[in-house]
Amino acid sequence: MFVAVLLLLVTLSVQGGNGEEKAEAQRPGHVSVVIVGATGDLAKRYLWQGFFEQYVKQVSGGNTFSFYGGGQSPASTATPVFFEIVQAVSCSKETSPDRCAVLKEQFLRLAEYRQLKTLEDYQELAKNIEKELQQEGIPEAGRLFYLSVPAFAYADIAEKINNSCRPASGAWLRVVLEKPFGHDFRSAQLLASQLGSSLKDEEMFRIDHYLGKQVVAKILPFRVENKKYLDPIWNKHHIERVEIVLKETLDVKGRIPFYDQYGVIRDVMQNHLTEVMTLLTMRLPVNMSSTEEVLQNKLQIFSNLLPIGKNQAVTGQYQAYKTSVQQEMNKTNDHISLTPTFAAVLVHIDEAQYEGVPIILISGKMLDERVGYARILFKNTVFCLQNHNSVHCKPKQIVFHFGHGQLKYPAILVSKNLFKPVLKEGQWKEVTEHTDVDVLGLPISDYYVQTPSENREAYSELISQIFAGRKNSFISAENLLASWGLWTPLLTSLAGSFPRIYPGGADNGDMLDLRVKGKDISYSSEVVIISADQMSGTSAKDFQVMQGKFRSAVMVSAWSEELVERLAADIQASAEAAVREGGVFHLALSGGSSPLALFHRLALHHFSFPWRDTHVWMVDERCVPPTELESNFHSLHDHLLQHVRIPYFNIHPMPVQLNQRLCVEEDAGALLYEKEVRKLVNGSIFHFVLLGVGYDGHTASLFPDSKVSELGDRLVALTESPVKPHQRMSLTFSAINQARTVALLVMGKGKHELITQLSRMKDNPDKWPVTGVKPDDGKLVWYIDYDALLG
Ligand code: BG6
Repeated sequence: MFVAVLLLLVTLSVQGGNGEEKAEAQRPGHVSVVIVGATGDLAKRYLWQGFFEQYVKQVSGGNTFSFYGGGQSPASTATPVFFEIVQAVSCSKETSPDRCAVLKEQFLRLAEYRQLKTLEDYQELAKNIEKELQQEGIPEAGRLFYLSVPAFAYADIAEKINNSCRPASGAWLRVVLEKPFGHDFRSAQLLASQLGSSLKDEEMFRIDHYLGKQVVAKILPFRVENKKYLDPIWNKHHIERVEIVLKETLDVKGRIPFYDQYGVIRDVMQNHLTEVMTLLTMRLPVNMSSTEEVLQNKLQIFSNLLPIGKNQAVTGQYQAYKTSVQQEMNKTNDHISLTPTFAAVLVHIDEAQYEGVPIILISGKMLDERVGYARILFKNTVFCLQNHNSVHCKPKQIVFHFGHGQLKYPAILVSKNLFKPVLKEGQWKEVTEHTDVDVLGLPISDYYVQTPSENREAYSELISQIFAGRKNSFISAENLLASWGLWTPLLTSLAGSFPRIYPGGADNGDMLDLRVKGKDISYSSEVVIISADQMSGTSAKDFQVMQGKFRSAVMVSAWSEELVERLAADIQASAEAAVREGGVFHLALSGGSSPLALFHRLALHHFSFPWRDTHVWMVDERCVPPTELESNFHSLHDHLLQHVRIPYFNIHPMPVQLNQRLCVEEDAGALLYEKEVRKLVNGSIFHFVLLGVGYDGHTASLFPDSKVSELGDRLVALTESPVKPHQRMSLTFSAINQARTVALLVMGKGKHELITQLSRMKDNPDKWPVTGVKPDDGKLVWYIDYDALLG
């Protein structure tokens, strides 16, 4: 290989983001660059370009180079592919075509493909490097190995490098590694110790390419340069919340075998978004060029982060993911993956400065747009009565816009109602000519906008720092373990939980919107999402519930929480319609445990429900005093009635206790209740009757073999239960089947067997009372959760 001896500067001068970095003195001489995985995707897309740019930068300066592309394939087959990739590098706009051609030709002559598989291959490589050094008679500066290979190969390659490719003393060895660095705390620790047995810490450069993004690299310098403005407001008194967001439109097709083991939290949150979070919140180092101080301050933030519990995270999975997993991993059609492709996580820092400030990390595949940003939204205590468009009424925010999105370019945006940021001449410029675009709720003209004078790829930036031996923008082992220490407990607690399925793209609608309340985060819409194969349509609306038929009636099915949500919404819609029509809503509610979740939901959203015009009736009651826990009324009172604004005279408990005794035929309690129904309920037609079904097929307090069908047109009756308390009062089929809507709520795995039997059973109300529920003119809807339906 031809070694270009360039008369160059002996040092590589690299400017850090703050522009204050001192060039690092390094021994001049020859640098051997080895990319292991030279024809892989990353190398193809970024690495060769990054190394070419670095080479070009130094043409007028210092060292000499040779570039080796390494891979598993033999040189005879891989060399043409390799050269095709290397040939594709491009020059900057400023370089003339002639100059570019010369530079590319030089670069190509310095490059060579080698098979790097066995220890002997590495030994051969080392021999080759030494031979060249001798032939050219130049001293060696260092050897740079970039491992662009799957992480499981790291330890083995590191060992081979250690055994055969170390340069003589005086020259440096740098080994660059790409994530994933483990999949949890223990595996990261294991990998760190394996690598540690071959390489010294200062020799390892763990890449997080986000740290090479220009805007991310500028976060600390921006905080320093604008300290006088930020110091008074960078705290809990002024910050409303911090959002760190990476939205992507692509799916993960083609990378499933990797991705399915990782998911979005491991893929981008544990690393990229966490790094951004630390840069935003860490104490500013006194000396920005001190790697030690920067890393220590980062570590301090980690130690002050509060543990992330299950309630501080929500997860999602795009609908088509499951099928891709089945295809790419050769799984059967019933294989379900719980790997999240979307997550939102709420983090809090236990420091006086940030106490209570929500920091929300969000990322997902198959979202509506590709964009990455960190937004610091400040509290705005001003509210405007008239000129809502005046600048001081608008959101106050700083946006670190990493790229893409509507804005399309990387930028730091400060809303004009905050301050005009300091602009350090040179690497960044102010943008004053704007296209008509909004960024996070504000037109671009409402911001001061700064953008890098020259756009640089993250990898190019990081490669130049590796050459310079600067470690500020790389992940130290301590940093890595601290981050896994934060994320591992959450990952463990989320294992086994079902992500919300989302259709992908614009169809996601408001399905992934979030609500932050105190220390918890949740989806703001409690919709039901079910998997693709249970769906016919693909629009967001279709995703809310599975609609089908059960025993020839309408069935709504979903996970329990969403099912209850849907039932509550249906009751409310029915209430509003009835009140609109006749000024009153008659609702009959069952006892038991199934409706409790519904009662809670109704109580929680009571402000919007027309309780003032609602009459609450009872479907059935146990013959016990209402003060006892077993009493259905007691439970109805505790879980619902006491929380809603319903007039007392609209509440109708069943009169099971008369003349100081319980459910005695002569006291005619059932008749009394029936009269009340006939008096108040128009035509005795309840608007909505909520029923459950017991394991024996009973509904209301109509039990098997209790001859309830013989009660004729009686609306209320005393009945007998096989279980205690035996005596009951219940609405009859006449009352139930006259209703406008009857809902049958069935939840829990325990009811699966029953549901299976019921799905096959003919009507037989004496044996299976629930089969006698057949509204005359009204409608019957079964609300069955997935546990009961699918078991
Ligand atoms: C990578 C993840 O680290 O970052 C990818 O593995 C993700 O899944 C990518 O798409 C995002 O990086 P960028 O630079 O495109 O925002």
